[in-house]
Amino acid sequence: MAHRVGILTAGGDCPGLNATIRGVARALYQKIPGIQIVGIVDGFRGLIEGESHEMSPSDFSGILTRGGTILGTARTPYKKMKVVENDVDKVASMKKNYKKMDLDCLFVLGGNGTHKTANLLSEEGLHVIGLPKTIDNDIWGTDVTFGFHTAVDLGTEVVDRIHTTACSHKRVMVIEIMGNKTGWLTLYTGIAGGADCILIPEIPFDPKKVVKALERRADRGHGFSIITVAEGAYDVSEAKLKKKERAEKRAAAGEVTITNRLAKQIAEANFDTRVVVPGHYLRGGSPSSYDRALASTFGVYAADLYSRGIFGVTVAQRNNKVIHNLLSEVAGKTKTVPPEDQMIFTARSLGISFGD
Ligand code: F6P
Repeated sequence: MAHRVGILTAGGDCPGLNATIRGVARALYQKIPGIQIVGIVDGFRGLIEGESHEMSPSDFSGILTRGGTILGTARTPYKKMKVVENDVDKVASMKKNYKKMDLDCLFVLGGNGTHKTANLLSEEGLHVIGLPKTIDNDIWGTDVTFGFHTAVDLGTEVVDRIHTTACSHKRVMVIEIMGNKTGWLTLYTGIAGGADCILIPEIPFDPKKVVKALERRADRGHGFSIITVAEGAYDVSEAKLKKKERAEKRAAAGEVTITNRLAKQIAEANFDTRVVVPGHYLRGGSPSSYDRALASTFGVYAADLYSRGIFGVTVAQRNNKVIHNLLSEVAGKTKTVPPEDQMIFTARSLGISFGD
């Protein structure tokens, strides 16, 4: 019987999705001649609504370097997956459409939320193989996710360019880097870009200590400073609050992130201060050579898992070796930056302040 597999990309996009899709497809075509690949449109939305199309080898040509995802993506939050809305039972619909599409397996490319839904489908009896994407690098059980290093490169370019204008104007530049729950991207970008202060959710900061660090730099004759702050960073007073309370307080103050408040506190200490938010720029465009190679390796490995009949797992890399973890082990966990991480040690040893 001919093999038929589905593939979808879910959650926020990132560079390297197409390179991974291509890796999966090319390896499958080589291993299993005649295999039919079905592209599911806009992530789990397409699976819920039954929107898909049969793909051919030419669809996977010329996409190694292309940003975004040829399949489209959407955010369909895990917490709503089991909620019946507009009479649609999403889990039942996904199971029904998997059957209707006559799939032997579903390749799911996504981040933390996606892995939770992938696990749910696996527990419901579908054959699922996950692939770890995200610029946040926060998927449990893998040292690296595809998309992360491209975002570090893009973030570093932003910091480099901000550096020169900061220097000309003798300003403090506060650069907000994506990463709502974890600080990997802010940490790596800060180190690679030579930031003076790095603020991440894992280390709540004291604004007074940030100002002190800037004053110490000014005393040493440096006219400007660079701060990279994660969009999910918070200060020591907010650290005492529950996540919900923090969000409510910020909403009441018209704040989403802490960046503008911090910039104001720095300006009040007599530093000429500006804020830069590269935002989704960090998720756009072509993947770096590192991510192209990683995405291809992960894609090929996922195809191999399929040919070996290994399901309910997601691809990972640990200590330079590509491996797979059980979806049930990964789902619901977040890989945060440990306080003893080598890069934290590196930053502190370089004299970079975490505001703690
Ligand atoms: O998870 C990737 C990410 O880019 C986060 O860093 C960021 O918090 C979030 O997605 C932004 O989501 P959206 O694209 O839905 O605005």
